[in-house]
Amino acid sequence: MSDGMTIQSHKGAYDVLFDKAARDGLAALAAGDRPLHVIVDERVADLHRDKLAPLLAGPSVLKLAATESNKSLEKFPAYVDHLVSHGIRRDHLLVAVGGGIIQDTTCFLAATMLRGVDWAFCPTTLLAQADSCIGSKSSINSASAKNILGTFTPPRTIYLDVAFQETLDGRDVRSGVGEILKVHAIDGPDSFQRIASDYHRLFTEADVMLRYVRAALEIKKGYIEDDEFDRGPRNIFNYGHTFGHAIEAATDFGIPHGIAVTIGMDMANYVSSRIGDGTEDHFRRLRPTLAANYAGYQAYPVPFEPFLGAILKDKKNTGAGSVTMILPKADGHLAKATHAADDDFKSACRSFLEDVRAA
Ligand SMILES: NC(=O)c1ccc[n+]([C@@H]2O[C@H](COP(=O)([O-])OP(=O)(O)OC[C@H]3O[C@@H](n4cnc5c(N)ncnc54)[C@H](O)[C@@H]3O)[C@@H](O)[C@H]2O)c1
Ligand SMILES: [Zn+2]
Repeated sequence: MSDGMTIQSHKGAYDVLFDKAARDGLAALAAGDRPLHVIVDERVADLHRDKLAPLLAGPSVLKLAATESNKSLEKFPAYVDHLVSHGIRRDHLLVAVGGGIIQDTTCFLAATMLRGVDWAFCPTTLLAQADSCIGSKSSINSASAKNILGTFTPPRTIYLDVAFQETLDGRDVRSGVGEILKVHAIDGPDSFQRIASDYHRLFTEADVMLRYVRAALEIKKGYIEDDEFDRGPRNIFNYGHTFGHAIEAATDFGIPHGIAVTIGMDMANYVSSRIGDGTEDHFRRLRPTLAANYAGYQAYPVPFEPFLGAILKDKKNTGAGSVTMILPKADGHLAKATHAADDDFKSACRSFLEDVRAA
């Protein structure tokens, strides 16, 4: 796990440093001459106080709670004021320490402050470590829509220390595992089968978890280097997300993102078996692992009309009255599909949400 990984991007190559290299790299940043502006999850700053002490001792530290409202545009004037009052210049470095919320906030600021300032990322959630840390995207909310504003702005370096995982809540671990399962499903049925047979070991054996974090990044690396701006092949990473985002919106974000995505993958498999090319057999094969990962949320009420309203508004849709999703094909591989939001589609969604999921 100590070898690094290099990702190619439109802004040049950037490295993912693991464990000791990550800790050494962060220490070097804290001790270096380049002025830093640290944006840190306040919970992480508290739980990992000792480890982060050198970074947090710097003159510019912004501690934020990891809430969706804190990555909403309305909050940004205060962040800009903080950076301006701490003397930000173009040659300074923003350092994000936290999960996806801190990542999105910092990345958006880095992209727009002074027309672009470098940023570095120390991901502390499993979701951020195994998935979102690479791929360049930032997405922030406005009062009326989630993730509606964004940029493609890779960090300069990622400092990935798996020791941060030790303090995560069980639900945040399963949220990250949801994205890891997604990436393996994208890689194909054999890859999914492999992680499915190791599923329970992920939670008890740190080296098994590390192997799959690394595998997920390797699989994603292939796609983002090929299609950084998400115009074609990378679209497949939206598997589980059209349904997952609509579930999140309809439940007022009561379900963690990666768990909503896990339900969304199960739903995509089911809906495809009803109205697409997917098979019932494929749906049944993935189901036990997906259901295990959303255990505790299977009966969470998802009101149908708000769900449908959200799915019809999904930003990936191209035509009115139709829904664009990633669905399994007959051979279990995934592909983009557009389907009319007709009675068949609605009835498949409704029976999944009302009967199948809770069965
Ligand atoms: N930019 C992208 O590519 C991308 C991709 C996926 C998701 N996202 C966004 O990321 C957000 C979700 O991110 P997330 O799931 O990584 O987490 P998060 O930032 O929402 O944090 C989840 C919880 O974990 C806590 N936490 C973080 N690190 C911890 C640690 N080491 N120990 C204990 N608690 C810790 C946080 O305080 C918070 O309570 C959403 O806003 C989503 O839209 C962005
Ligand atoms: Zn996701």
